[in-house]
Amino acid sequence: MEIKKVAVIGAGDMGHGIAELFAVNGFDVTLVDKFPQALEKAKGRIAASLDKMVERGKITKDQAAAALGRLTYSGEAGSAVSQADLVVEAVPESPELKKAVFKEVSSHAPRGAILASNTSNIRISDLAEAASGPERVVGMHFFNPPMVMKLVEVIPGARTDPAVEQQTADVCAKIGRTAVKVLKDSPGFIVNRINAADTLFFCLVQDRGIASPAEVDNFARGQGLPMGPYELMDFVGVDVAADSLAYFAQALSPEYGKGKTFASMAKAGLLGKKAGKGFYDWSTGKAQIPKVPATEKISIMDIFALEINEAVKLIEEGVAGPDDVERSVILGMNRPFGPISVAKDLSNAEVKSKLEELTKNYGCQIFAPAKSIMEGRLRDAIEGRLAPKEATAAPKVEAQAPQTKGQGVVRLERLPGGVARVVLNRPKFNMVNADVLDGLDRVITELSSDQETRVVLITGEGSVFSSGADLSQFVSSSLAFMEFARKGARTMRRLAEMPKLTIAVLKGYALGGGLELALSCDLRLATEDVEMGFPELTRGLVPAWSGSQRLPKLLGISKASALILTSERIKGRRGYEMGLVSRLIPPGDPDEFAVQYATQLASSQAPVAVMLAKRLISKGAEVALDDGLEMEAMAAGLLFGTEDLKEGISAFLGKRKPEFKGK
Ligand SMILES: NC(=O)c1ccc[n+]([C@@H]2O[C@H](COP(=O)([O-])OP(=O)(O)OC[C@H]3O[C@@H](n4cnc5c(N)ncnc54)[C@H](O)[C@@H]3O)[C@@H](O)[C@H]2O)c1
Repeated sequence: MEIKKVAVIGAGDMGHGIAELFAVNGFDVTLVDKFPQALEKAKGRIAASLDKMVERGKITKDQAAAALGRLTYSGEAGSAVSQADLVVEAVPESPELKKAVFKEVSSHAPRGAILASNTSNIRISDLAEAASGPERVVGMHFFNPPMVMKLVEVIPGARTDPAVEQQTADVCAKIGRTAVKVLKDSPGFIVNRINAADTLFFCLVQDRGIASPAEVDNFARGQGLPMGPYELMDFVGVDVAADSLAYFAQALSPEYGKGKTFASMAKAGLLGKKAGKGFYDWSTGKAQIPKVPATEKISIMDIFALEINEAVKLIEEGVAGPDDVERSVILGMNRPFGPISVAKDLSNAEVKSKLEELTKNYGCQIFAPAKSIMEGRLRDAIEGRLAPKEATAAPKVEAQAPQTKGQGVVRLERLPGGVARVVLNRPKFNMVNADVLDGLDRVITELSSDQETRVVLITGEGSVFSSGADLSQFVSSSLAFMEFARKGARTMRRLAEMPKLTIAVLKGYALGGGLELALSCDLRLATEDVEMGFPELTRGLVPAWSGSQRLPKLLGISKASALILTSERIKGRRGYEMGLVSRLIPPGDPDEFAVQYATQLASSQAPVAVMLAKRLISKGAEVALDDGLEMEAMAAGLLFGTEDLKEGISAFLGKRKPEFKGK
């Protein structure tokens, strides 16, 4: 679909600039605002900006007039979006307000329209949930002012269609912007995540009375910055800084809530320029900054170390690679260089000790060195030698991560009625690492020869099955990587060949390596809302724990290609309709249902017959039909001598439940 018509919702600082940018570049634009006075103001701002561009010779008079002619204004979002190919939401930064807008807009926009949010920090997946058709919702984060700043962060939500993400990046190029594709939907994306650590730092500087705003700002100006951090905060709005820290505290880590000064200033109405007073008096329209000496209690190294640390965390978490982090900071913060090039001139030890000093002095764990810096691997991180994580873009990773209970990463529980339950138990959505594979190998060995066990359930601790393989440990070489792939595939094979009925309990997320684990089970139970998919190709990987081989055998080449090659995420019901899921779990506790289901099968299915049927199905798929039929006849012959067969027939004739012995 070619994007021609754009609707921008919210005509404030950002919305009017975004609308102008599209109009100047030949798009038909409708600018929407709930408040008529906001629309009037936007009209005036756009006209003044176009005049200035003509004055400066950037566009001709005719071009400015044509841009104005392409702009229309509306007070009603529903009708404005009904013809739009792209909707850009730019209402104030409130999740509730934005969700309401997405709900309304998605019910009026054409099915194929892209619905983008200009949110500064909020996870796109959270907003997408409110929309009908979350696969068309994407983040399109412009920087202020949009007519000047070249960067747009393009962020896929958990369910965004990759084609929508690509089209959004393509349209950025058409309006002369550089799109940086953010790899993972994480609060603040790239630039504002790096900013958030700085903001917290400057808040704590005030909380602890380390230096006055003027002392800090005079120091910053002395370093060549056009504005100090507090003047800038006054300029943007102290409430904006307070709100963003509050969002990070709720969405990423409570440690962001440690700073107090900004929130109490916002509460007191000391919002900065727009209120006439913030850190400074703005009654004359300019900040009155007292002429005091620059502080010596803060050094430029404090800021460098904090930004490098956040950059490394973004790389470790798979949010962005080093080049994109560097590019985003340069373009989004208008800097001559970014944290990656600064880090190249520093040693791991320098950065680490600075961060440790800041953590101690300010009592804040956000400043603690990232894992790679702790391990002396700053170079590996900034030179792109950390393995990409196969992490999900799932919301609230920290908050929802199940607690490890000290029973190891794979817990074996024996339940009554011949059922064994294997529970994956790792932080971050039960990601599968080498320890988990070892744990699985151990329980497979133990349960394979256990006469009591008839059915094996595989589930995840908490609300998630598994969000995939955790590749972070295996980064040293392609050989190590290959070995990790082989190790996983070996475990999957052993699981598939286990002489027991195996059932995966898919809930929350079953992605990548997690889904490959499920494919190696005989049956897959799934909740309606589980998200399943293979994100590997979006990380530059392929499913390497037998998924690329098992999936086509299970679903056929066409369906397997659709899932693997597009990395589309599907829910339980789609999976059921495709044949990926054997049975849907009704509403309620998925594990409780799974245990009932397994217990029933453990008593109704004859164990030796299960073992032989499993082999007939898996091996039969690899041989010619005649050979398969021969195997089938031999299996039937083998079963003839078993006690289970006698018991099965006698129970059937006697109209009673069989009591199989597995002999
Ligand atoms: N200002 C920045 O520097 C900046 C930079 C990047 C992103 N953002 C993000 O862009 C978004 C907008 O920020 P802003 O600074 O332009 O805010 P703003 O307050 O200047 O503008 C928001 C506009 O939305 C309008 N509005 C409110 N509710 C509405 C509704 N239901 N329907 C239609 N219009 C409605 C308001 O009347 C206002 O004109 C926020 O999410 C913000 O975080 C801001």
